[in-house]
Amino acid sequence: MKILYNSILTLLAVSALNFAASAQDNPVHQVGNVNAVTIEGQHVNLSTSSNEHIRLSVYSPTIVRVRMDKKPLGDDFSYAVVGKPQQVKANITQNSNEITITTDSLTARISKNPFAVAFYTPNGKVISQDEQGLTTSWIGEEVTTYKHMQEGERFIGLGEKTGPLDRRGNGYTNWNTDAYGYAVNQDPIYSTIPFYIGIHDGLNYGIFLDNTYQSDFNFGASNNRFSSFGVQGGEMDYYFIYHTKVADIITSYTYLTGRMPIPPLWSLGYQQNRYSYYPDAEVMRIARTLREKKIPADGITLDIHYMDAYKLFTWDKNRFPDPAGMNKQLEDLGFKTTVIVDPGIKVEPGYHAYESGKKADIFLKYPDGQYYTGQVWPGWTHFPDFTSEKGRDWWRNQVKRFADDGVDGLWNDMNEIATWGNKMPDNVLFNYDGHLTTSKQGHNVYALEMVRTSYEGARTTMNKRPFILTRAGFAGLQRYTAIWTGDNRAEDDHMLAGVRLLTSLGLSGVPFTGMDIGGFTGNPSVGLYARWIQLGAFTPYFRNHTGVNTKSSEPWAYGEEVTEIARNFINLRYKLLPYLYSTFYEATQNGLPVARSLAINYTQDPKIYDGQYQNQYLFGEAFLIAPFASTVNFGKVYFPEGKWYNLYTGEVESGNQEKIIPLAYNKMPVYVKAGSIVPMQSLIQTTAEQPTDTLTIQVYKGDADNAFVYYEDDGKSYDYEKGQYYKRTIRYDARKNDLAFGKAEGSFNSKFNHIKVVLHGFGNASKVKVNGKSGKLNDDFVSFIDPISRFDPQGASNPTEGYKVKSIVVENNNNAFTLNL
Ligand code: GLC
Repeated sequence: MKILYNSILTLLAVSALNFAASAQDNPVHQVGNVNAVTIEGQHVNLSTSSNEHIRLSVYSPTIVRVRMDKKPLGDDFSYAVVGKPQQVKANITQNSNEITITTDSLTARISKNPFAVAFYTPNGKVISQDEQGLTTSWIGEEVTTYKHMQEGERFIGLGEKTGPLDRRGNGYTNWNTDAYGYAVNQDPIYSTIPFYIGIHDGLNYGIFLDNTYQSDFNFGASNNRFSSFGVQGGEMDYYFIYHTKVADIITSYTYLTGRMPIPPLWSLGYQQNRYSYYPDAEVMRIARTLREKKIPADGITLDIHYMDAYKLFTWDKNRFPDPAGMNKQLEDLGFKTTVIVDPGIKVEPGYHAYESGKKADIFLKYPDGQYYTGQVWPGWTHFPDFTSEKGRDWWRNQVKRFADDGVDGLWNDMNEIATWGNKMPDNVLFNYDGHLTTSKQGHNVYALEMVRTSYEGARTTMNKRPFILTRAGFAGLQRYTAIWTGDNRAEDDHMLAGVRLLTSLGLSGVPFTGMDIGGFTGNPSVGLYARWIQLGAFTPYFRNHTGVNTKSSEPWAYGEEVTEIARNFINLRYKLLPYLYSTFYEATQNGLPVARSLAINYTQDPKIYDGQYQNQYLFGEAFLIAPFASTVNFGKVYFPEGKWYNLYTGEVESGNQEKIIPLAYNKMPVYVKAGSIVPMQSLIQTTAEQPTDTLTIQVYKGDADNAFVYYEDDGKSYDYEKGQYYKRTIRYDARKNDLAFGKAEGSFNSKFNHIKVVLHGFGNASKVKVNGKSGKLNDDFVSFIDPISRFDPQGASNPTEGYKVKSIVVENNNNAFTLNL
């Protein structure tokens, strides 16, 4: 007993000592008590007993920004945020314990002792709150905010991150990294988007951390107490977004960080790449073979071997003696050329880009004024500082050379910045637009500013919409560029992990995304290639690419059957272009992705987060895509609520159902949501070709109303900004069985003079009324893909891949009209 008593005494003494130590020289500097408050309109400025400076701003009724630092807040400068604060009616009150900010959509309660924030719905439910006791703290220059882990909370988004759809239990680092042949759980990889969405208790919110230093997010990795986000330097600066729908959170996030401009139509076609096609005769051979084999395609991409010794803004004169001539020939065949651009400029006296870069003084430097030199493809190189207007101006002028040579696309690679050794020194300086800083702050934003500059340069010098592609980036990259997921591997896991990278990017404001179809490193099996190319047809940026020492990856490289399969799905992609282009238009308006995680529409359905279903996604609003590894012959599909039509047979599956289905080699599982409206066109081989003048609208009977905004313009210029577009809303009224076409808006003439409406699931409909008058229904047959010879020896003359339907053709004038089905 005595011994026990003594040990308790010792324990008490030790903890008292510890407590004293923590109170005096706690290595973690905790945010203090609020001791001064000023309310300025929709902003609240605070200072604390331990000298922190804090500012909360109501950005919109649904967005509150929180900034804090251990010193007075700096210049309000951001590369990511372009949305301006709105004038909001916010009610801000305080008492001795707390400050309350109330808008129409949320309430923020700020405790004063110590400073902590909690967000509530208008009817008082907690959306998110600082973890008591931890709130926000600093360890040296690092600052982290800790949020209480809510019961059952899930986390989605965070941009191009490997791992599961629901990120709960995982932690992530944001540091743009050249990740050649990355593993499917590797982190970090190429790009940084410090934005995620939290989901719990039927609520969802977004948090965007606007700081370009290395950041770390913890969603309950190695702890059961909090989720946290922190940065290695600079201010804690985050935006809290609350909406009842995930889609609206994405719309608000892209209000802040911007939305994509409408891309050139050709960039939605099939793109053939390889590392590398050369010389020019080989490029032409690939292009002609695509045409001969009747595989539609619009893009051909030149990798680093087009350059003279990898020197940027040059052509290898032996391999490409007449680039403009070659590009003209490609253009005549209906192809556009994209060339790779890496940021590193070879150190070589006499080389024009090196000399003019030096003269313009635009390369990154060490603090002693010497240029930073790192090694990439050309050997030792300097790097333009894209965070200075001077550097951007220089690059924009260089880009003109490509415009003169008839190039339509710029593929921005190695812009993490990648250098051999992957360890660019921290003491390299970045102008950061007048806020001189080190690589620690400049690194993650380098690629964003590079693609901004490529976009700006190409847009003015090409005088049309350019196609811009990047490997790395930061939040807001969608304003300028498409992104692909870098050097993946030719493995089943990679194909599926790739889907999650795309849908996660989509949740994070980036709609134009793709992956190397077939895999970059290694060689896929025939079965994997076949499944991957089918999937590719349902990715926003459809890029086939492979590494330098691998087997060719063109659609004909895997035998006749696979060529047929590839052709089938590329054909389907081209027929779907009116649907796809309209879906991209939607992305330009509300920021919603093209490859949509099921978490957008079915947020509260736990099944969609289940590992076995997490690779399913919606392509636009209509198509449910269920990809599977090539190694399995049966797959389990989850059908979320509603009804789903099998694309190939028209059979209906009911929702809220898990089902095992046989998997065919030649038909990836694709289902159409009931109520969908899907505009399609006739098959073309390139977007340079005109389809027939009939726009086909596939309508799928459903129980819920739906609307689809059909959009068309010239697909290449910026004339749409002057009203030269054609846009009409098509509404499906489930109860009345009506399909109503709104009046066309804009001054562009549609290329379609007729509209054919194809009825799916309307049984043996026999009557249809057009504006109240009876119209003529025809017997018809739909077939989204052709039979493959191996499975149907009769071939296309005996189409088995389809089913009977009814359809009606009407004139396409610009007036509103209604079909009663
Ligand atoms: C990088 C790119 C890859 C490209 C290669 C050569 O690895 O990610 O797509 O083919 O460089 O330029």
